[in-house]
Amino acid sequence: MAPGSRSWGAVLLLAAVLPAACGSCGAEGGPLEPFDELYASGVEAYYGGDFAGAARCLEQALRSRRELRAERLRCRRRCRGQVRLAALGAGPAGELPFFWALLRRAGCLRSCEEPRLGATSRHRATEEVRSDFQRRVPYSYLQRAYIQLNKLEEAANAAHTFFMANPEHMEIQQDIENYKTTAGKVSLIDLEAKPHMEDYSAGVRHYDKEEYRLAITFLERALEGYYAEDEDCQIMCEGPQRFEEHEYLEYKAGLYEAIADHYMQVLACKHDCIRELATRSGRISPIENFLPLHYDYLQFAYYRVGDYVKALECARTYLLFHPDDEDVLENAAYYEDLLKGTLDLATIKPRKEAKALLRRHKLESHLLRVASIGLGFTYTEPNYWKRYGARQDEHSVPSSISSEPEDGPRLSLTKKPTPKPDRELKEGGPLLYSDVKFVYNSQQLNGTQRVLLDNVISEEQCRELHRVASGIMLAGDGYRGKTSPHTPNERFEGATVLKALKYGYEGRVPLKSARLFYDISEKARRIVESYFMLNSTLYFSYTHLVCRTALSGQQERRNDLSHPIHADNCLLDPEANECWKEPPAYTFRDYSALLYMNADFEGGEFIFTEMDAKTVTVSQCPFLVSSETAPCRSPMWSWSQTPSRALGHRDPRHGQCVPPSLPVFLQASIKPKCGRMVSFSSGGENPHGVKAVTKGQRCAVALWFTLDPLYRELVSLSITV
Ligand SMILES: *[C@@H]1O[C@H](CO)[C@@H](O)[C@H](O)[C@H]1NC(C)=O
Ligand SMILES: *[C@@H]1O[C@H](CO)[C@@H](O)[C@H](O)[C@H]1NC(C)=O
Repeated sequence: MAPGSRSWGAVLLLAAVLPAACGSCGAEGGPLEPFDELYASGVEAYYGGDFAGAARCLEQALRSRRELRAERLRCRRRCRGQVRLAALGAGPAGELPFFWALLRRAGCLRSCEEPRLGATSRHRATEEVRSDFQRRVPYSYLQRAYIQLNKLEEAANAAHTFFMANPEHMEIQQDIENYKTTAGKVSLIDLEAKPHMEDYSAGVRHYDKEEYRLAITFLERALEGYYAEDEDCQIMCEGPQRFEEHEYLEYKAGLYEAIADHYMQVLACKHDCIRELATRSGRISPIENFLPLHYDYLQFAYYRVGDYVKALECARTYLLFHPDDEDVLENAAYYEDLLKGTLDLATIKPRKEAKALLRRHKLESHLLRVASIGLGFTYTEPNYWKRYGARQDEHSVPSSISSEPEDGPRLSLTKKPTPKPDRELKEGGPLLYSDVKFVYNSQQLNGTQRVLLDNVISEEQCRELHRVASGIMLAGDGYRGKTSPHTPNERFEGATVLKALKYGYEGRVPLKSARLFYDISEKARRIVESYFMLNSTLYFSYTHLVCRTALSGQQERRNDLSHPIHADNCLLDPEANECWKEPPAYTFRDYSALLYMNADFEGGEFIFTEMDAKTVTVSQCPFLVSSETAPCRSPMWSWSQTPSRALGHRDPRHGQCVPPSLPVFLQASIKPKCGRMVSFSSGGENPHGVKAVTKGQRCAVALWFTLDPLYRELVSLSITV
């Protein structure tokens, strides 16, 4: 079990939330109504056309969730203060005072929470509901309800709030543009903004404009907010933890085991607050080096306003995190020079709160590492203060800095190159299995870090996998329960390893077949790891069995792709000829593989293209003028494309949106067949897609791998026990 992993519970325990009658969601006083019930009522009302009820329930759901958190924070803080945990004494009864304090604290929490929250079990929302709130989905319903109620101002804010966490959502973007023109609304409010993040962004904005005093005000406030939020984050980690794997296998641990299991999760959660606080809503990756960056900006800003004491203080604080940072070391030396003789330099110390945080962080690290070995957890410490590789816009440095006198201080980021921490790219390692047949290398596939292999699995295994697939498929599983076809002309079905195993355990498919899915995934993983000569372990990030079936009667006029051109871990920006490693792309994916099961279908070739897929839109969608042929958003391009590239045109003959068609810049095309596997690195160097399946069903196992143990798909590992 490890922090941040995919969990059994998410899929296995889809406990139904019974919607309360919506009228009842307005009840005031009494215990707090569970937000998941309010949410369900709101959604139900929305679909029932009761928009006033929907808005009321959704607003209350959001309020209830906020209040739940506030109440928990209040009680945990209070009980921490009231009941201190005692030290262990000596002798046979030595542990009693400790456990006595533990019991009293638990009692304190209960009696503190109960009046407002009622039984704690009332507030256990399912993973799905929590994820909806995380992704701010309620605001999407809210804005639509507000439109119906003609509350444009509220609608605009709700839309904006949703958009901040879903920047790839194009419909909402369009809605926001509409509000701006129809309602004349200019300042939009993010109703879920994190204050420390807002202040940080404002600080950096001012910094970029060389408004150093304002930058200082905002960055200092951001720091205050950060440490406050950090404390809250720590406290919230003390909530219930999930023991999904154990629940499934009927967890029965002894006292110390149970405490250790729970505590390790709490500790890992607390330790990860660094990442949590540095991550913008709806994003996957944190802003790198987030907390230290505050001090970096500040040291330079203070220098620019002539406060050398503070400049040195911030530089020294930064050096706590990166003691060997040459630029800041130089800057610190420069400030020391400026201050020499005016005061005792030893009195200028790094900031206390940063020191305390680092001390705690190191201790947590130590505990996690040592304990994980003893307890058989797997734990790998992520690099929390990584200095390179962040987006330029995060760090753009005022141009004036470059005209700084040679020996003057610099922002430490200016001199640094921002190379991707690219591993050395190699290929041609052993294939490990004698029956696997090498077909093409990168060069033959006209690109880099690509390989094509045959006979990775046998005919019989193909058939068996296909049976597993048919046995367990539910439309859309694996893409978060959505029937989310990239094209309306195919049915899209998928199953995760998780689901296969669940069905295996439940006897709905033979366990042996379910197990095969895992075994061949592992075989593919080993081959990829070996062929690309990777030094560190390659982990599963996500594994998915997927079939695309051509829908009969919808195959004429098709010039779309079954899966639009995309890269697996970044957002393609053909205009800039860049692939941004930015959410919503899965930035942690490092290698990808597709293992095919059959060949009895038409179309469906896997293609590699050049990154410059600009020709796609320009050549096929010349700017059409009449209103019927105005550019329109095509569903198939909505996956990972920037909005401007999602435009197709409306065909006047049938009124449907015709997506931009195949890119001209095809590099290689691969016809799937049983046992064939194509594998490649997941970055912008390998844009790829799937041509339309025009007849029959095309099935494959899609595998994504990561070198970052934090993102490994735990399911695949846990079943080996
Ligand atoms: C693997 O490690 C060796 C030595 O540690 C190094 O020389 C080599 O470049 C590394 N290979 C890759 C692909 O990073
Ligand atoms: C690679 O490019 C060459 C020349 O354009 C082409 O003939 C060949 O078919 C391509 N390779 C594959 C596997 O598609």
